[in-house]
Amino acid sequence: MTEKLTARARFLQAARGLATDRPPAWMMRQAGRYLPEYRKVREKLSFFELCENVDAAVEVSLQPYERFRPDAVILFSDILVPIRAMGAPVEIDDGGPKLGRPVRAAADVDALHGFDPETETRFVMDILRTLRRSVADSAALLGFAGAPWTLASYLVEGGGSKSFTTIKRMMTREPRTLRALLTKLSGMVADYLSAQLQAGADAVQLFDTWAGELSPSEYRDFALPYARDAIAKLGRFGKPVIYFVNGIAGILEPAAETGAGVLSIDWRCSLAEARRRVPGPALQGNLDPALLFGPPETVGARVKEMIAETGGLGHIVNLGHGILPETPIDSVAAYYDAVRG
Ligand code: CP3
Repeated sequence: MTEKLTARARFLQAARGLATDRPPAWMMRQAGRYLPEYRKVREKLSFFELCENVDAAVEVSLQPYERFRPDAVILFSDILVPIRAMGAPVEIDDGGPKLGRPVRAAADVDALHGFDPETETRFVMDILRTLRRSVADSAALLGFAGAPWTLASYLVEGGGSKSFTTIKRMMTREPRTLRALLTKLSGMVADYLSAQLQAGADAVQLFDTWAGELSPSEYRDFALPYARDAIAKLGRFGKPVIYFVNGIAGILEPAAETGAGVLSIDWRCSLAEARRRVPGPALQGNLDPALLFGPPETVGARVKEMIAETGGLGHIVNLGHGILPETPIDSVAAYYDAVRG
């Protein structure tokens, strides 16, 4: 182990597979409803009002940082923010996201327009610039976007889905329409993440949450190329890209072909197995967020086991998916204590 590092250096070194004093840690969706101070802000602002209000979004991004001092701060926003900037009506209520005009035909793809991230989603870049100044070296700053397949699944399904029948029907019956949509989204994601890296993000995470719903060959055909093209366009920044899929085990090898320097692993696949199968990239993960509902001692023990699987090398400690709204705060504290201990 090396001498004590700043949190920012610790995160960036681990993301590059280099040795660190201890593995860095953060949590996906670390700002959110399990924090009473988040719920308080949300009493006054709707979800997208919060995303667009720079001061409030900065405050909410820093809430988990003030409490737990994670090694990374992620911009508070949503993967659907740039979808709205493309002209698609999106609402988020207690039932999750709803898209007012789902994409079903070529004309719907044509209706989605390009946008300049620095002007039309300027609030996102302002949030990052403000966070960059306020955390300095005491945390890595993360930007993010949804990956093309996952964004397309919201656009085509019109919201969340269990079986993804509408997009899979399009995949088999109208593959050209789906490819046109994925191509457009891939270009948008590259431009949007480039703007975030220029605004001061140290690294970006690409959320391909629903790519685990695809067979390996469908993944190679409809998710991988579009994620890989977006990631390739970020190469000039020389900053880490983290790629997340919920249910990555079946597509781990092709997921490594995206070119992401870090693969985020969910709890259904052990980190030891992930490392064996894809030795190249650094790994992030992979505690089951539901385990945070157990006793804090169990949480601490599981965190230590998880770190033992990678020897703490090239490992960014995280959950296997986003933290759940009712999560007890003591368990979150136990998770960070175990990483530091
Ligand atoms: O990590 C962070 O703290 C940054 C915040 C963040 C949010 N959404 C805030 C949010 C991030 C990184 C996201 C990404 C996101 N959004 C994903 C990919 C990650 C994942 O969990 O798979 C997806 C699929 C979405 C789409 C989305 N947004 C859904 C399905 C929902 C509703 C489900 C839910 O958790 O309520 C949202 C809303 C949303 N995005 C909330 C938050 C804090 C809850 C809204 C509220 O405050 O009421």
